Amino acid sequence: MAKMRAMQVPKAGGKLELVEKDVPTPGPGQVLVKVNACGICHSDSLTVEGHWPGLTFPRVPGHEAAGVVETLGAGVLGWKVGDRVGIGWYGGSCGYCDSCRRGKFVFCLNTPLISGISFDGGYADYIVVPKEALAHIPDEVSDIDAGPLMCAGVTTFNSLRNSGAIAGDTVVVHGIGGLGHLAVQFAVKMGFRTVAVARGADKEALAKKLGAHIYIDSADGKAGEALAKLGGARVILTTVTSGAAMAEMIPGLGLGGKLLIVGAAFDPMPVSSLALIGGSKSVAGWASGSSIDSEDTMKFSALAGVKPMTQVMPLERAQEGYDLMMSNKARFRVVLTMGK
Ligand SMILES: NC(=O)c1ccc[n+]([C@@H]2O[C@H](COP(=O)([O-])OP(=O)(O)OC[C@H]3O[C@@H](n4cnc5c(N)ncnc54)[C@H](OP(=O)(O)O)[C@@H]3O)[C@@H](O)[C@H]2O)c1
Ligand SMILES: [Zn+2]
Repeated sequence: MAKMRAMQVPKAGGKLELVEKDVPTPGPGQVLVKVNACGICHSDSLTVEGHWPGLTFPRVPGHEAAGVVETLGAGVLGWKVGDRVGIGWYGGSCGYCDSCRRGKFVFCLNTPLISGISFDGGYADYIVVPKEALAHIPDEVSDIDAGPLMCAGVTTFNSLRNSGAIAGDTVVVHGIGGLGHLAVQFAVKMGFRTVAVARGADKEALAKKLGAHIYIDSADGKAGEALAKLGGARVILTTVTSGAAMAEMIPGLGLGGKLLIVGAAFDPMPVSSLALIGGSKSVAGWASGSSIDSEDTMKFSALAGVKPMTQVMPLERAQEGYDLMMSNKARFRVVLTMGK
């Protein structure tokens, strides 16, 4: 039996450990992918820390994988060995429930399949995934760039393109990390007046380099007021991991403005009803996207010149990369590569 390397989490809150495993065999409707690169997303902490309900261990995290189709399981049509593919958070669905049949929502109500949670993810030489999880990678996009586009990219691209903002509107990207640094580029390329908001002055030069028209330092807790002085935002896309910090942005919404939440926070977000009623403002959430949304994201990125800023590390250094991300020191996405 051929062997492969994987960086797995042995138990909730445990350290990522290097293990040797059998290369898995794809079942009916599944595909074996040789992984070349995998980004480290903040949502991998749901696997590593064991926050996802019903998660079982050991588990290999990773939902920003890019590689090549190695073997097709029975009944897989439309894909061939050698196809370049990406695998994101969306790992397929039942195909029968309300949500699946409407095709409008990413999450299946019945048996949501999530890469790196429901099945082993991309911190490994090989991954077996349902065929629905596969997205074609365009020739212009490298594996190292495709990885982060499979979650950080699709989540921000897809939320922004469905946000209701139109060209010329003021759109704010709150938090300039893995998601935020891509969101700034997408917002600029979509034609929005783009405001980047992050804590401290050190990210200003980077945010401007990514194309942000305006930068606001949120360290004083008054970014919302500063935004209001600029006329208020149509959309504030918040990517941060703090509910309290998200709430600070609400005064920055303009008339009919929307606080669009993609960041997952464990603390509550205090919102005054009065702050929303005046000006008909709203608060909404957004979940990543399906594999076809990922393809759209990669095509748009190739077309518009959107590129992740990456720090590349070999697979074995996954724990170091994860710690870098969790301590907010990654600039901006750590990507693991599998080449020896
Ligand atoms: N909705 C979805 O489908 C989806 C998809 C992917 C990820 N996510 C979630 O999105 C979030 C961001 O992911 P990521 O990979 O971009 O993470 P990341 O690279 O670690 O960036 C985290 C961001 O959170 C901000 N932050 C951290 N602690 C904060 C605090 N106490 N107060 C204010 N801001 C704080 C940082 O802001 P500064 O720039 O100010 O330092 C940083 O920009 C995570 O919660 C992740 O789970 C959701
Ligand atoms: Zn993610």
